[in-house]
Amino acid sequence: MLEMHFANMLEEVIGDKGLSLVEIEGIRDKTAIAHSQIHERKWEELAFIDLVNQDTADIKTIAGYVLESSDLFLLLGIGGSAMGPRAILEALQPMHNFRNKPKIFIYDNIDPQTLEAIIEIIDPHKAAVNVVSKSGNTAETVASFMIFWAYFKKVLGNESAKKFIITTNPEGGILRQIVKEQGLLSLPIHPSIVGRYSVLSPAGLLLPEIAGINSDDLLLGAKDILTKCSNAELWENPAYLFSTLLYLMCTKEKRTVNVMMPYADGLKSMSEWFCQLWAESLGKLGLGITPYPAVGTTDQHSQLQLWMEGPEDKVVIFIRIIDYGSDVRIPKVFEKTEGFNLLSGLCLNDLISAAAKSTELALTNASKPNITITIPVLDAYHVGQLFMFFELCTTFMGFLFGVNPFNQPWIEAGKNNIFGLLGKPGFQKQKEDIQRMAKDNICWKL
Ligand code: PA5
Repeated sequence: MLEMHFANMLEEVIGDKGLSLVEIEGIRDKTAIAHSQIHERKWEELAFIDLVNQDTADIKTIAGYVLESSDLFLLLGIGGSAMGPRAILEALQPMHNFRNKPKIFIYDNIDPQTLEAIIEIIDPHKAAVNVVSKSGNTAETVASFMIFWAYFKKVLGNESAKKFIITTNPEGGILRQIVKEQGLLSLPIHPSIVGRYSVLSPAGLLLPEIAGINSDDLLLGAKDILTKCSNAELWENPAYLFSTLLYLMCTKEKRTVNVMMPYADGLKSMSEWFCQLWAESLGKLGLGITPYPAVGTTDQHSQLQLWMEGPEDKVVIFIRIIDYGSDVRIPKVFEKTEGFNLLSGLCLNDLISAAAKSTELALTNASKPNITITIPVLDAYHVGQLFMFFELCTTFMGFLFGVNPFNQPWIEAGKNNIFGLLGKPGFQKQKEDIQRMAKDNICWKL
């Protein structure tokens, strides 16, 4: 089970830059309201919670089909439709493409250079394409789908349709229309589940199944942490406590930046996934916290200086792994030379753990608040716990701030601006706004 170590957020440890028990107890009314919003299921978007009980049979059947027929699996999607599956793959199957088949690519942008490289590599005879979009309308994803659809058709003719699996909302969107018209394989994303909360839905689970990761293990971990985080009592509920502490640090101590720093390469993408969730869910009505991804020990050598002596606006969240599942002993070479002899015979686990502790100590001694989440081992069960834990934290934090953690009006506005610029009927105003901006813009020719 995850553990959360939060003493370094409290005034007993870091002095007057820390939080007092009075401050924490002082927002009991807010935390009680936030709990009741979740507990009483006042928002339909809380449907992400029910994903822990889903039947994964259809996902496994489609994964089996892909494994039988493909050497390459390409996921087309953006935002929540790509960041979750990438986080799972990198956490649980590092360097997958060097070691396993099918090779997996996630094309989550519309950079033509990347697309051309994929077209060069991909053999449609032996590939499967999973198009993931909750809305089923996102221009970037739809455009990439169109390109691969046409390319596969050119190479395979009528056989091409069976290479596509569309994961989308069962009720609407232009992708659903094509699924029906062309009779394509598809998986559903429940209509009430928001993109960035969809990692444990078929949007996030097909790819891991194809990579040999059992999605039921992810769901089991998520289910167990959900039970742990259902308690109404703040001090008994790690998700509520995590959010309450960061909320108070933001509102009372003006610490408006949260650094997410796992000490594991495999969790780099998880840290980016968290940043999307935190930013897009909370950044509303002039409120929110700026999330900022980092990775240990790498960023000790690039960011730590800023955290120690820069603006007093951050809280650092560490994720530490107790058992990396593998270890490497540093061989005893150059032992007679000072410096080398210190490292000789040490294990990398010891070194990374010493580095993490030293950063925590440096911050704590300088009264910089920090919080540590530990996971016993980086496996599907605990990765599932991390996803559900942060989704619950984000929801609870949204309710503490009094914002809707499930909408994203400015992401939608961006999508609409693209439609306007492209001349889609009904988006004339967006087109005019963009044309005006282009005219008003001042440009230096360099
Ligand atoms: O969280 C969100 O809603 C967004 O980040 C979406 O995931 C992103 O915009 C992609 O949307 P869709 O899955 O509808 O294509």
